[in-house]
Amino acid sequence: MKNILVVSGSARKNGNTMSMVKIIQEEMERLDTDVAFEYLYLIDQKLDYCIGCSICLRKGGHNCPLKDDKEMILEKMIQADGIIFASPGYAGMVSGMFKNFIDRFMYQDHIPEFVGKPTLIVSTSGGDGVMGAPKYMANCSFYWWGCHVVDIIGIGHAFYTVHHKSKLKYTRRLKAAAKKLLVAAIDKPLSKPNFRQYIYFMFNKTELEISPTVMPYRTDVWREKGWMDMNYYYDTKINPFYIVFTKIAFGLMKLVYKNLLGKDADKALADYVQNN
Ligand SMILES: Cc1cc2nc3c(=O)[nH]c(=O)nc-3n(C[C@H](O)[C@H](O)[C@H](O)COP(=O)(O)O)c2cc1C
Repeated sequence: MKNILVVSGSARKNGNTMSMVKIIQEEMERLDTDVAFEYLYLIDQKLDYCIGCSICLRKGGHNCPLKDDKEMILEKMIQADGIIFASPGYAGMVSGMFKNFIDRFMYQDHIPEFVGKPTLIVSTSGGDGVMGAPKYMANCSFYWWGCHVVDIIGIGHAFYTVHHKSKLKYTRRLKAAAKKLLVAAIDKPLSKPNFRQYIYFMFNKTELEISPTVMPYRTDVWREKGWMDMNYYYDTKINPFYIVFTKIAFGLMKLVYKNLLGKDADKALADYVQNN
């Protein structure tokens, strides 16, 4: 059985965004009867606003002082074989509740727990700024969190509704994405990182190499996972151009930090992290 979790930032359970997700569900169930869907509507969850204490970064997400549904949501995402992140586009961005969800899981940028997780991104908007929300979602879940995003879909729902050809085109796209998510949920491929993913991995690693004591919890996790000695979160081939680029860019970062800022930089940074 493959479990697909839908994390929905739409306030309307039968609205445009969910109707697109339903097409994906039907197609996945048509292709494979051994698929189970679970819908996690953020509107039904108790997920308070982030209070900006950064304890998740300093001591781990499980130490977040807000006692709400966050840990339950985290567990569901960890257990899922694939995740569909879905949100309507509001003013060119994700909905407010989806943004709050991202904020609450922001520590995943630096202490990732969904590396390689098959993920599909779906968003609908009226017609303009169609890719604003899905691109933002991809930036979080793909590049920073290290998920394996199979597709990033932004649909102008007005066109979908009124234009026959557009409806056919989007339906085909959704069905193709359903197949990709199914295959990834079964195979769990560890794909080669793209430039941005690699840069974000190396940025995290270089930060910890420069000042391992500033955020000890994060350093411990990276050491435990063996990431400090690896080229990426898992064994994979890295494009040589990426390696050369990051060697130069992050070599300069180390040089500036250690030589120009001096020994006090660690203490100043630790104080800053403590107070921010
Ligand atoms: C607060 C709000 C802001 C919106 N902003 C945009 C927008 O910037 N561009 C756009 O094309 N549609 C915008 N829309 C329309 C929705 O994105 C569109 O109807 C979407 O499909 C709704 O999804 P839902 O049915 O899942 O709620 C907005 C709707 C709302 C309620």
